[in-house]
Amino acid sequence: MKYLRSCHALGILSFIVILAYLLSSSLATELDSIRVSQSLSDGMTLVSRGGKFELGFFSPGNSQKRYLGIWYKNIPVRTVVWVANRVNPINDFSGILTINRTGNLLLTENGTETTFWSTFSRKQAKNPVLELLDSGNLVLRNEGESNPKAYLWQSFDYPSDTFLPNMKLGRELQNGFDWRITSWKSPNDPSLGDFSVGLVISDYPEFSVMNGTKKFNRLGPWNGLYFSGYPNVSYTYIFEVSFVTNKDEISYSYNAKIDSVISRIVINQSHSFTQYFWDENVQNWRYFESLSGDVCVTYDLCGAYGYCSVTEAHVCQCLKGFHPKSREAWNSNNFTQGCIRDKPLSCNNNVTSTDGFVKYTGLKVPDTQHTKLHENITLDECRNFCLKNCSCMAYTNSDIRGGGSGCVMWFGDLIDIRVFQSGGQDLYIRMPAFESEKSKINEFMEGYVNDTDLPLFDLLTISTATHKFSLNNKIGQGGFGPVYKGKLADGLEIAVKRLSSSSTQGMPEFLTEVKLIAKLQHRNLVKLLGCCIQGEEILLVYEYVVNGSLDNFIFDQTKSKLLDWPQRFGIIYGVTRGLLYLHQDSRLRIIHRDLKASNVLLDVKLNPKISDFGMARTFGGDQTEGNTNRIVGTYG
Ligand SMILES: *[C@@H]1O[C@H](CO)[C@@H](O)[C@H](O)[C@H]1NC(C)=O
Ligand SMILES: *[C@@H]1O[C@H](CO)[C@@H](O)[C@H](O)[C@H]1NC(C)=O
Ligand SMILES: *[C@@H]1O[C@H](CO)[C@@H](O)[C@H](O)[C@H]1NC(C)=O
Ligand SMILES: *[C@@H]1O[C@H](CO)[C@@H](O)[C@H](O)[C@H]1NC(C)=O
Ligand SMILES: *[C@@H]1O[C@H](CO)[C@@H](O)[C@H](O)[C@H]1NC(C)=O
Ligand SMILES: *[C@@H]1O[C@H](CO)[C@@H](O)[C@H](O)[C@H]1NC(C)=O
Ligand SMILES: *[C@@H]1O[C@H](CO)[C@@H](O)[C@H](O)[C@H]1NC(C)=O
Ligand SMILES: *[C@@H]1O[C@H](CO)[C@@H](O)[C@H](O)[C@H]1NC(C)=O
Ligand SMILES: *[C@@H]1O[C@H](CO)[C@@H](O)[C@H](O)[C@H]1NC(C)=O
Ligand SMILES: *[C@@H]1O[C@H](CO)[C@@H](O)[C@H](O)[C@H]1NC(C)=O
Ligand SMILES: *[C@@H]1O[C@H](CO)[C@@H](O)[C@H](O)[C@H]1NC(C)=O
Repeated sequence: MKYLRSCHALGILSFIVILAYLLSSSLATELDSIRVSQSLSDGMTLVSRGGKFELGFFSPGNSQKRYLGIWYKNIPVRTVVWVANRVNPINDFSGILTINRTGNLLLTENGTETTFWSTFSRKQAKNPVLELLDSGNLVLRNEGESNPKAYLWQSFDYPSDTFLPNMKLGRELQNGFDWRITSWKSPNDPSLGDFSVGLVISDYPEFSVMNGTKKFNRLGPWNGLYFSGYPNVSYTYIFEVSFVTNKDEISYSYNAKIDSVISRIVINQSHSFTQYFWDENVQNWRYFESLSGDVCVTYDLCGAYGYCSVTEAHVCQCLKGFHPKSREAWNSNNFTQGCIRDKPLSCNNNVTSTDGFVKYTGLKVPDTQHTKLHENITLDECRNFCLKNCSCMAYTNSDIRGGGSGCVMWFGDLIDIRVFQSGGQDLYIRMPAFESEKSKINEFMEGYVNDTDLPLFDLLTISTATHKFSLNNKIGQGGFGPVYKGKLADGLEIAVKRLSSSSTQGMPEFLTEVKLIAKLQHRNLVKLLGCCIQGEEILLVYEYVVNGSLDNFIFDQTKSKLLDWPQRFGIIYGVTRGLLYLHQDSRLRIIHRDLKASNVLLDVKLNPKISDFGMARTFGGDQTEGNTNRIVGTYG
């Protein structure tokens, strides 16, 4: 019984639907254009030539009010993409759209003088005609005019909440159109909601989702391939995207590569910025890609110099070389105060800064409000520009295509950075010299260890071997820090060079040493056993050469007597063999430039081993002489 009744009800319902459909298709008048003498009243529609879009009056959701809008003509789910009188609804069915003689659209009520909406075009009208194009663009143009720039008016200049293919989002610079989409207040009310998506102008402009006038979620600047905040460009397989920046406009647009794909991007009042596509099979819209993303899209979640990473236990972290300004607040997940530097910058605009830059990878670049763009300079020039100005905190390529080009620099605090698991951009952040040199060494050593089989020692192992770097184990002081003697668990004796954590002096020498010594193997050269890069520590582990340096013998009255002539000859011969290897036989061709008795170590059999390559220079394999531009070396 129940079943029958519902069946019956369904029957009646479908009858009504069919009837309504028949009525509407027979009664509603469809126009393909409107001219000065004509009008469009409630019940009539204007249809695009290919039948894709339709303009007419509608009531959204459960509202009774009437709005003039555009929707898809051949999609059964009424989907409005544009509304004319968003803030001024008509209370009944008396709305009329007309074109006046000076080429403006007027939305009025039949019988009253009230204007609910109108356009203001100053262009010269001559037989103006209103047409709805198959792109969904409603255009008012002079008869025969096909140049969009000469249109009297077009709805694409006044987007609602929907960003359609071939529409532009951004800024028109000549007339000042702000091509932005703004959410409806609710599904029943198309008036202006709180959320919008548009271009935030700066030297390196970027798109943002705004809550009123406040940034809510930065899409980030366009880097030539994608918006910095959305490195996954999978949709470029389906959509042709274009970013235009010239004196007339800065704009972004997209278009499906396949004609039959129906897609739209919408911002709504729950700040969801979503791309939908029409699914023929299920006859409904589907999310194509939610641009709303994860927690890390929240603008400025982690404060200055913090970054957001969804894979960390705490989503906010300080960049390397920074720590939370307030540890207490940070631990209770209040990140607003951000992070501050571990060590201050040395910058002083007057003098050459000793600061450097540390390269961070896989990022969404920081907020670009305070940036400077130099499109035609290299990354090296960019670095120099940035170094010279103490408020320049970071730089990178403005365009990442083809290995990168252009230069963008950030001034003031860096905010709203995030880290991606894959993809993302490089950013060079200003750091005190020590940090930046150290990071260079770190980067090199990690890469080196990756590429070769140079063993990596654990810090605990080395610390134990040297009795926690005790003073008793210190056997010398090199150019870049102390040297310790140690003994590994298996009894092997080692010498550990520890990069001083306080001075930047010797950093370049340290790097040179690592680069060279790691590639050299000869019985008359001191042997690098491995290294240790952990946290702040960078350590080089060498074989321990028991009899110390040659100078201890030859400049010491008593010890010098211990060396007889055959031994002295053996030492000289060994050093010469080592040098011959460096100068001629090794792949690199190296000039030590600081060879002296204190850099020659003697093993248990008094075999000499050359050490300390910090000053060395390499030459091409077939280059036999070079111009050294400075005299180096130390007294000896
Ligand atoms: C046409 O409408 C516009 C906008 O309302 C108005 O400024 C203009 O004066 C009107 N022109 C005529 C001839 O009524
Ligand atoms: C305005 O209303 C009058 C009377 O109801 C009607 O005759 C006329 O056709 C309407 N005008 C338009 C343009 O719909
Ligand atoms: C948007 O801004 C308003 C006013 O500042 C605020 O009350 C509201 O919480 C914000 N909305 C969201 C989702 O953050
Ligand atoms: C980007 O897309 C690729 C493949 O489509 C996927 O493997 C990867 O995890 C995505 N990366 C991010 C950060 O979403
Ligand atoms: C906004 O869009 C999202 C995704 O489609 C949806 O879940 C949410 O309900 C929408 N909110 C409103 C107010 O329409
Ligand atoms: C976070 O800290 C700031 C000041 O550091 C304070 O103004 C704000 O109220 C705190 N927020 C919360 C949620 O406690
Ligand atoms: C800055 O440089 C100028 C000229 O080079 C010099 O006269 C001045 O003393 C310097 N000031 C400081 C604070 O170093
Ligand atoms: C950069 O170079 C291009 C092509 O060489 C040129 O058209 C453009 O004007 C230059 N831009 C600036 C800011 O110099
Ligand atoms: C540094 O750059 C900023 C931004 O371009 C500029 O306002 C400031 O004058 C520059 N400072 C110096 C010392 O050049
Ligand atoms: C070294 O290799 C590891 C793992 O293979 C990788 O994550 C890391 O990025 C590499 N480091 C460098 C500097 O190439
Ligand atoms: C060199 O070291 C070994 C082992 O410590 C020692 O036996 C030898 O006497 C040393 N030779 C000289 C010349 O000091």
